[in-house]
Amino acid sequence: MTEFANRMDGITGSAIRELFKLLSNPEIISFGGGNPAKESFPVSDVTKIVNDLLTEKGEAILQYGPTEGYMPLKQAYTEHILRPKGLDANADELLVLSGSSQGLDILAKIFTNPGETILVEAPTFLGALQAFRMYQANIVTVENDSNGINLESLERLMRELKPKLFYCISTFQNPSGGTLPLEKRKKVAELAEKYDVIVIEDDPYCDLRYTGEVLPTIKQFDKSGHVIMLNSFSKILSPGIRVGMAFGNKEIIRKMTIAKQSADTHTSNLSQAIAAEFLSRGLLPKHLERINKFYAERLNTMVNGMKKHFPKECKYTIPEGGLFIWCEMPEGTKMLDIWKEATSKYNVAFIPGKHFYPTAEGHENTFRLNFSMETPERIEAGIEALGKLLQKYVK
Ligand SMILES: Cc1ncc(COP(=O)(O)O)c(C=O)c1O
Repeated sequence: MTEFANRMDGITGSAIRELFKLLSNPEIISFGGGNPAKESFPVSDVTKIVNDLLTEKGEAILQYGPTEGYMPLKQAYTEHILRPKGLDANADELLVLSGSSQGLDILAKIFTNPGETILVEAPTFLGALQAFRMYQANIVTVENDSNGINLESLERLMRELKPKLFYCISTFQNPSGGTLPLEKRKKVAELAEKYDVIVIEDDPYCDLRYTGEVLPTIKQFDKSGHVIMLNSFSKILSPGIRVGMAFGNKEIIRKMTIAKQSADTHTSNLSQAIAAEFLSRGLLPKHLERINKFYAERLNTMVNGMKKHFPKECKYTIPEGGLFIWCEMPEGTKMLDIWKEATSKYNVAFIPGKHFYPTAEGHENTFRLNFSMETPERIEAGIEALGKLLQKYVK
């Protein structure tokens, strides 16, 4: 068989894909994925929008569009998403993406030569690790302290390794659920400028907030154009439409646009127009209110169940939003073994945490729970079953 390119060496993608296969088995109560709840999708609003769009501007929508993105979406995004957060953008500082994952791919492509360093949090989003590996980047983790990344570690790595990129999920991190505190956000922007490192601030979960105060983004402290913010419509509207946005320095956006051109020419016009109409018709605030209410209920149900059924040796933090709870069993616990028993005998699934680290060794005692996809009744039953199994392993 013809040899694959070197960049595919060691890229299997299989471990977690196997886990995801279980999601389609209705017997299994799944805390494994990260999908939005199917009940969250505003199907009737989108049906009406699609009808109106095709009736009113069908010919334009079915034609090719500009790589830079559909202008009404950029305008609506600026007005309804950026300005309420205290940010503002010109059209040439925005690039519409086919999901924010495309931004990760493009940024790694335009900035990293093989062997160059990308700093990441530990743990971090698996999709980002996969994208960075494809460009043969040297992926290095920043150490943590009690509330997110350790800034001394970040500064030392920036100074010593001269990375091109630092990838950071600032709010309701996937998989840890954590949120980077305000002071650290400021400092990350300062360090990026000082050491000339591009920060990718990936922020798809910030609008899924159930408690606590909204924090300014890292981008808001960016005086030098070193922060590229990625947003997504996947968790607030629909992942199936594949619409995301990059916001940053216009020179970088220009280079990203060139790279996107050869990847997919442009993001689907219909998808972009759906997102634009959803925003400009003022539907987002009510929609978020509705989905945040039921996600909060699911989170509370899960946490209450964990308090009741999990062994006290299992440590976890309760997130203020997002879709995940990160758990740590005592050192030496092998969550992969527990996962096998959980899925085969207890009909409950989660993701063992080791998959969220760039190296295969260690972190075997950690796991991620997702609370968005199951009803409160099934969450209660699944957490009770998982608790019983975990109790067995600590004894
Ligand atoms: C941190 C993070 N970034 C990006 C994505 C991908 O989002 P999109 O569907 O916009 O590509 C996800 C999806 O789970 C995510 O958790």
